[in-house]
Amino acid sequence: MTRYAHITGWGHAVPDQVLTNDDLARRVDTSDEWIRSRTGIRERRIAAPGEYTSTLATRAAAEALRMAGVHPRDVDLIIVATNTPDYIFPATAALVQDALGASKAGAFDLQAACTGFVYALTIAADMIKAGGIHTALVIGAETLSRIVDWEDRNTCVLFGDGAGAFVLEAAEEPGGVITSVLRADGSGAELLMLPTCGTRHPVSPKALEERLQYLRMNGREVFRFATRVMNSATREVVAKAGLSLEDIHWIAPHQANRRIIEAAAKALKRPLDDFLLNLDRYGNTSTASIPLVIYEAAQEGRIQPGQYGVLVAFGAGLIWGATLVQWTGPRPARKPPRMAWHRRVAQVGSWMRRVRRQVEGLLAR
Ligand code: ACO
Repeated sequence: MTRYAHITGWGHAVPDQVLTNDDLARRVDTSDEWIRSRTGIRERRIAAPGEYTSTLATRAAAEALRMAGVHPRDVDLIIVATNTPDYIFPATAALVQDALGASKAGAFDLQAACTGFVYALTIAADMIKAGGIHTALVIGAETLSRIVDWEDRNTCVLFGDGAGAFVLEAAEEPGGVITSVLRADGSGAELLMLPTCGTRHPVSPKALEERLQYLRMNGREVFRFATRVMNSATREVVAKAGLSLEDIHWIAPHQANRRIIEAAAKALKRPLDDFLLNLDRYGNTSTASIPLVIYEAAQEGRIQPGQYGVLVAFGAGLIWGATLVQWTGPRPARKPPRMAWHRRVAQVGSWMRRVRRQVEGLLAR
């Protein structure tokens, strides 16, 4: 029996606090006009004190589970893709597991920069297809506002906080997560990194003085890399699935910069309307950006069951990748759950006792 991994629920969480471009222009030497024309971003959400990557992830996951009609107890695996975990360890996924009461779930974090959600989705789907698990929660969650240098106008205007989550379930009906391409080129590691807090440059007064605890980026080089791989990864994943670009109904790109997405649309010879966009309201939320934009599109009915979509992302590492999905809708047609063998034996036993009683009753007359 071939197993498929269907996306049967989706959820989101964004902080209430909105930070507009005008708000930023009061902090650093920038303007609404510069940010909008260079990036397409108008505003972003910022986590409140007491709001963490794990709390945003938990809210998004709870909504996705409700939509799928799955009890947390029935989740086999939780993957949290994030660049801003609550701690280096324990895993944020373990905190989410506890908050949800997912008592039978394994849990781990996945770090593949902004491509993390695509990687996590691929791993969870492949585990479902291989038969190892039945139900998985895949979450992208970030509080990037905590690692952004609010004195650096080159980066602080780009990022925002949020979370998105998918429930994946095994089913026999074709569809769901079809295939992926995952790529990396570590020779570009220095183009985008958070230098300290890891073990190569542990936190020290000197590191803090040099502001190494904040994200650093060579924007121009990342831009060049991003426009190249958005095109190549999309083409590769479509070809790998045995489809052509004309078969694809929508593309959910990583929401980093509108100009990068426009360049991808041009290279792929597709109208910009085919690309799901919400970066104007949330900025770059890294691993959360793809599930967030798909969440909104699904809620608005913009994406429909049966349609083919491509999720494509790039980020630090350098790491990039794309996943091709056939959208399912809230739930796939389900077969009734198979009864455990001891229940079936008990049911047959009670049926035989009933027949025996009836036969004995007839013979006694
Ligand atoms: N406001 C005003 N001026 C600014 C700002 C700002 N916020 N930021 C930079 N500038 C200035 C620069 O200092 C520079 O001035 P100079 O010419 O006097 O030196 C000028 O604007 C142009 O700078 P560029 O870097 O050439 O601007 P560019 O058009 O490339 O846009 C941007 C910069 C938006 C960062 C762009 O390069 C970009 O989007 N790169 C990709 C970034 C990205 O996607 N990162 C996320 C990757 S995913 C992940 O893993 C987190």
